[in-house]
Amino acid sequence: MSAPNIETIVSLAKRRGFVFPSSEIYGGLGSAWDYGPFGVELCNNVKQAWWRWMVYERDDMEGVDSSIILNRLAWKYSGHEDTFSDPLVDCRDCNSRFRADKLDYLPTEEERELPAPEAIAKAIRERRIKCPNCGSKDLTEPRPFNLMFRTHVGAAAEDDPSSLVYLRPETAQGIFINFANVLTTSRRKLPFGVAQIGKSFRNEVTPGNFIFRTREFEQMEMEYFVRPGEDEKIHQDWIDNCFNWFTGLGISANNLRLYEQPKEELAHYAKRTVDIQYRFFPEREEQDRQWDELMGIANRTDFDLRTHSKKPEDAEGKRLNPDSTEDLSYFDEATKERFYPYVIEPAAGVNRTVLSVLMDAYSEKTNDKGETRVILKLHPTLSPIKAAILPLAKNKPEIVGMAKAIKRSLQPLLRAVYDDTGGIGKLYARQDEIGTPFCVTVDHQSLEDEAVTVRDRDTWEQERVKVSELPEHLSTRLKG
Ligand code: GAP
Repeated sequence: MSAPNIETIVSLAKRRGFVFPSSEIYGGLGSAWDYGPFGVELCNNVKQAWWRWMVYERDDMEGVDSSIILNRLAWKYSGHEDTFSDPLVDCRDCNSRFRADKLDYLPTEEERELPAPEAIAKAIRERRIKCPNCGSKDLTEPRPFNLMFRTHVGAAAEDDPSSLVYLRPETAQGIFINFANVLTTSRRKLPFGVAQIGKSFRNEVTPGNFIFRTREFEQMEMEYFVRPGEDEKIHQDWIDNCFNWFTGLGISANNLRLYEQPKEELAHYAKRTVDIQYRFFPEREEQDRQWDELMGIANRTDFDLRTHSKKPEDAEGKRLNPDSTEDLSYFDEATKERFYPYVIEPAAGVNRTVLSVLMDAYSEKTNDKGETRVILKLHPTLSPIKAAILPLAKNKPEIVGMAKAIKRSLQPLLRAVYDDTGGIGKLYARQDEIGTPFCVTVDHQSLEDEAVTVRDRDTWEQERVKVSELPEHLSTRLKG
């Protein structure tokens, strides 16, 4: 079947308890979403899969969990205070506000030569680009709008600038400012990485498309520290590695592609960035607009460690960072050299990964009676529920008792549920729709032969398994 669009997933997600519009009973809050019982399991499974792959299965990785609110100076020296902004355009007629770089227009050849903000400004000024909302050509020139959320710490007055802090817009800076701490305590040698998963916040001008772009989201980031000169090859290795991680999660390679960011799109710190894009918008006519970023893999050079260090000086000998108390350089015992490591950064969004696995797993199947069922063919590692224990007769206390005992015996091992709130066909359909790989049915015969039926979500095939062998049977099949 053709890929579902986001709307199909929004409706499934709400109906089955994956994702709800946030603050719904108060009319909602634009582009904010709450994860329900199955959604939180799916998010946790994505994060655990990433952490296992990134940290546990490697020999060169450490983890951290840094604060969401850092000293404001971290964002001054990272460059975010000055440059982490989107170009904003207002329509003078309908007062709508847009990201100028997302306006729908084709740049002329001359505009294509200019840096993006100048190209848009020229197009608005000279070619009278239309407002996407009302069609008016009376748009303001683009102006920068900083995306960091501001708040204040302590009891100081809100207009006291010394109390101003930001909610972090990326988890990465919490890693850089702890570089020396991790290096000293772990006694690592280059190359090594530091991973972090956590919430980030951006006051996006145009959030939307369900959980694709929100103002509060979660990131899985890793900063891999390498010798300058080895950065380009290691960068390429991480690009390949990350692509394979997504296909290993069951996402079809046909729905993934690599996108080389052109020079004018690169962030202020990046030498090269390649995005892994997913086909989030298959319904869009224009091929190129069907794809958008799932993960970015950047070569950040030594920008971050240098900028947070007290040492570097300009040509006149003036310290570039008079506020830092630490030098974040690295001393190589073997070569007796001191230098600032380069950084390769794979940065993925938890929420976009969740959206892509939901879209990719969505399928429909018609049963013997001609009824069409939704089946979420999630990789079993990601499935919110691994096994559903279903009694065939809920009015038979022995069957119910046996089913509940089986559920309890499985729960230290895997996430299992018990359900007797419908006929067996309905119960199967319910589990298929949330991606449960195995349904375990307890019937009359189970009372005699101490065996149950294990039904496979994808093939609907059934197998008789001894209750005593069930934990081993399910564990083996879940591992694939
Ligand atoms: N430290 C680098 C960095 O933050 P990014 O490309 O801006 O790079 C990394 O973000 C990932 O975080 C993106 O690929 C995306 O998956 C996720 N992300 C970024 N902004 C987001 C938003 N507003 N809503 C949901 N996910 C977002």
